[in-house]
Amino acid sequence: MINKVFAPEYEKDENGWFIFPRDVTWRRKLFPQIAMEHPSKMNMYVCQEIINYVSEKGETILDCFGGTGTTAIGALVGRSIVLMELERPYVDIQRETIKLWQERDILEGSVMSLQGDNRKLLPFPCDHMIFSPPYANDMQKKTGGALNEEIQRQVDQYTDSMLNFGRLNEFFYVQGMDLLYDKVAESVRSGGTVSITHRDRSRAGKRLLFADSIIRSLTSRGFSILAHHKWKAPGAFQSRVNEARGAKVILDEDILMFVKDK
Ligand SMILES: C[S@@+](CC[C@H](N)C(=O)[O-])C[C@H]1O[C@@H](n2cnc3c(N)ncnc32)[C@H](O)[C@@H]1O
Repeated sequence: MINKVFAPEYEKDENGWFIFPRDVTWRRKLFPQIAMEHPSKMNMYVCQEIINYVSEKGETILDCFGGTGTTAIGALVGRSIVLMELERPYVDIQRETIKLWQERDILEGSVMSLQGDNRKLLPFPCDHMIFSPPYANDMQKKTGGALNEEIQRQVDQYTDSMLNFGRLNEFFYVQGMDLLYDKVAESVRSGGTVSITHRDRSRAGKRLLFADSIIRSLTSRGFSILAHHKWKAPGAFQSRVNEARGAKVILDEDILMFVKDK
């Protein structure tokens, strides 16, 4: 059992949701400018608090949906970070960031950046995993002109690969995530943790609830719930995509943490 308080310095709103600041200023200080353009980055304050809560110096944390490498901030506080990412441009950003941090001599731990489909790269032995998965159809290119030009440009640039979970339809997404969770369970040591941040989506005016399916996926694979928090996410790229599609915008994001049974 973890004997710490999650995010002790942050307040909650009237719904009991954590309030974390926007991370733009902090990100600009640490990451190359190009990293700002990734459409769905994990908030750095959320990431930092998860790292502090679940892990200790010297432990290995794996992010199998690495994106621009937000989780790499763990290497600034003595963790060994492994990032997996499918898309070459994001892997390049991760590697540029590592180089920058080496030049500035601010790494207290290490970062490894692996390119490929996480279903092929896993299992990979680690103490903890922290990730934020995309969702089915998030990044479909054919949006029938529903998006404004700027948002459509970002979606188009995002990916071409059908191995990207964000481009799969719901059927193939569920199959893919099932295989992925098998490999997540194989990767994390007993007593280690998995933390997932995820925002519900809205389709046809209905809220699609994901926390339950994430909880089912991990508890059926030998994990127990450690904590389930929500935080109020400031309007992000995906909210603007959904807004442009005329959908209800969802502002709260789940932070789900699990521990692997001994
Ligand atoms: C929600 S974003 C994660 C962003 C990341 N947390 C950050 O802060 O930058 C999901 C990432 O998973 C990547 N991805 C999607 N399918 C993948 C796969 N099969 N294997 C590895 N990475 C994948 C996407 O390219 C995208 O960068």
